[in-house]
Amino acid sequence: MVKLTCASSFWALPASIRPLFRSPHLVLSCRRYASKDVSPGALTIGGHSYPIDSWTNVPPNILAQYGRKLHVQSDHPLSITRQLIASRFPSFRNHDSLPGVVTVEQNFDSLGFTPDHPGRNRTDTYYINQSTLLRTHTSAHEVDVFRANESDGYTISADVYRRDAVDKSHYPIFHQMEGALTWDRKAFASSEACIQQITKDFEALPKHPLVVEDPNPTYQPSNPLQTQYHSPEEAEILAKHLKRSLEDMVVTIFAEADKGLAAAGHRSKSEDEPLKVRWVEAFFPHTSPSWELEVWWQGDWLEVLGCGVIDQPLLIRAGQPDRIGWAFGLGLERLAMLLFGIPDIRLFWSTDKRFLSQFSEDGPIRRFQPFSKHPAAPRDVSFWLPKTDAPIITNTPATASTAASPAGGQPTEPSTSDQAPPAFHENDLMEIARNVAGDSVEDVTLIDDFTHPKKQRRSLCYRITYRSLERTLTTEEANRMHDHITRELIEKYRVEIR
Ligand code: PHE
Repeated sequence: MVKLTCASSFWALPASIRPLFRSPHLVLSCRRYASKDVSPGALTIGGHSYPIDSWTNVPPNILAQYGRKLHVQSDHPLSITRQLIASRFPSFRNHDSLPGVVTVEQNFDSLGFTPDHPGRNRTDTYYINQSTLLRTHTSAHEVDVFRANESDGYTISADVYRRDAVDKSHYPIFHQMEGALTWDRKAFASSEACIQQITKDFEALPKHPLVVEDPNPTYQPSNPLQTQYHSPEEAEILAKHLKRSLEDMVVTIFAEADKGLAAAGHRSKSEDEPLKVRWVEAFFPHTSPSWELEVWWQGDWLEVLGCGVIDQPLLIRAGQPDRIGWAFGLGLERLAMLLFGIPDIRLFWSTDKRFLSQFSEDGPIRRFQPFSKHPAAPRDVSFWLPKTDAPIITNTPATASTAASPAGGQPTEPSTSDQAPPAFHENDLMEIARNVAGDSVEDVTLIDDFTHPKKQRRSLCYRITYRSLERTLTTEEANRMHDHITRELIEKYRVEIR
């Protein structure tokens, strides 16, 4: 019955995504998300029905995971991480259950994203239809939460969705936490009085022992002051308050990570060197000036969050022209992986007791103990691309869940306004692999890219690594998944297997 429903809506799907629905495996996933009242030409998500159109590109495996709410599941490492962060902002109001289907207006326009921002591309974002998508970041709710004006400070924690690389630290659904704090100029007799209050609040923030590198001035042409709206003094004190608050939050997280390491018998990081962070200039459409905070962790600078002084036109759009303030956004998985020593992002989705029973909200942070290590099954797929003038997009750096590519998309990609859609985009292969192999695909990497000098034909070779976290895959299973992915590639891109 349900299968019929799925099948009947199949032909209503855009041709570009039909191949993704063809396997028995996918019908199964379809069965899980499709409710009985699905009508052809519509998708039911979270109890609401949405019409589909030529923009629809959200596949069944993503919808099957929609609504898991890992960030609020008791004793889940993502929830523990969220609570640890929230504990550093005790006066903030926490929004943890805002629905993941938002409008293009909420996700991009309301934040001042330009019409050609690469994050809007269908190769990077999951569209339900032309005007509706799965949020790519928690900032999608900023304007609504500011408009409701229920508290000076707030956090938003939620699942976010991006078409992206397949590897141990990227998954098409991950979780972000957003925080913002504003002061109402109207509540003060003068701008000076408002600045005095922010200064007082700054002085009341906890002091920390961090080594902080912050070489740049608060604003400069590359990271501008919003001259039309903010005085230099306002921007300076907002930046100071923002930076100290976030440094304090990072100290808390990393001190806990260190304790976990020590408890597991490892040498604590702080014994070797004091915790070090640095502020790096950044760009976000919804803040200016903007920064990323990086932490020196295990021999590398690790980008932890993006932040900045809130774009004033955004607050004006939200009906709060008199409020000024700061906002930040971070990826919870990245912090949870380091806090608990979780080596693979797929583990967060595990329902295996051997994983879930290791974490507790009440006790101290404990390092994850791997319960099994199953062998990897790598398989290569080499193919000639069809001859075409349309762009071929490969080797896209995986997005960091904050900063460099705010809300997804690569700055190097052609934008939505460009005429020709790409003839091949790596993210499509990533998605085929996820759809066919589910969580049994660990990594997809381009290992060869060459153009035949005489034939002027381009060939790509990807290595797909299959490995289940829960059991050993048989050779036949790996072969079957690989053959299936290969068939989808041929069907979707008309590639010629070498
Ligand atoms: N929305 C940004 C992202 O997803 C992060 C961010 C949030 C930056 C708030 C600044 C302020 O990359």
